[in-house]
Amino acid sequence: MSGLFAPSRRLGVLSLVCVLLAALPLATQAEYADVVINRQAEKNGMRPVVFPHWFHRIRFRCKVCHAELGFKMRAGSNTITMTDIIEGKFCGACHNNDIAWSPENCDLCHSGKPGLPTGVFGGHETSGPGRW
Ligand code: HEC
Ligand code: HEC
Ligand code: HEC
Repeated sequence: MSGLFAPSRRLGVLSLVCVLLAALPLATQAEYADVVINRQAEKNGMRPVVFPHWFHRIRFRCKVCHAELGFKMRAGSNTITMTDIIEGKFCGACHNNDIAWSPENCDLCHSGKPGLPTGVFGGHETSGPGRW
């Protein structure tokens, strides 16, 4: 019995690593390669925006967003306001109650845990040559 509660040093380290690994997704509350955008949201009383990049990448070509809609390819590099979105720019080019649900669904975009910094969560680079 006491063996269970007093594991060897090696086992102890191993299980600590397991606990940390298991806790990671909970700690970030953002999925692998989600982009958190929190440049202005929280300062203005809204939760950080979680943009599920993979979800969108499998549905649209890169150039739709990164050329036609003008999203620069660096997390946190775009200045996006709700006025822009409601006027049909950036996210609002699709979240317009036509291609996708409307901007009135605040919580679907402003879904981040308070305090999450702007940036990419999890690996976002391929293992091949160069970044994407
Ligand atoms: C629906 C729109 C959309 C599509 C489609 C899309 N992206 Fe993005 N991408 C974004 C947004 C929004 C961001 C975050 C920008 C920000 O934080 O200001 C982003 C961020 C990025 C980044 C920056 C990540 C970092 O490390 O800083 C890269 C690289 C990128 N996209 C590449 C791609 C590639 C390659 C494709 C196609 C396979 C693609 N994107 C498709 C909207 C899109
Ligand atoms: C090129 C079109 C396009 C752009 C631009 C776009 N979206 Fe979307 N988005 C979609 C579509 C289509 C869906 C799926 C809608 C549905 O299921 O009814 C979606 C779904 C979502 C979802 C829900 C994902 C899920 O798991 O159901 C979130 C959150 C979201 N978008 C956030 C954003 C944010 C934030 C931006 C801007 C940074 C953005 N989107 C820009 C087309 C777009
Ligand atoms: C389709 C996704 C989406 C929806 C829906 C959405 N937002 Fe936003 N919102 C964003 C993005 C992206 C930003 C830029 C975040 C940043 O830079 O911190 C933003 C920024 C903001 C900001 C700060 C910038 C500004 O324009 O003042 C406020 C406040 C805000 N949203 C309120 C709202 C409210 C209220 C709703 C619902 C009526 C809403 N948002 C719905 C994506 C969305």
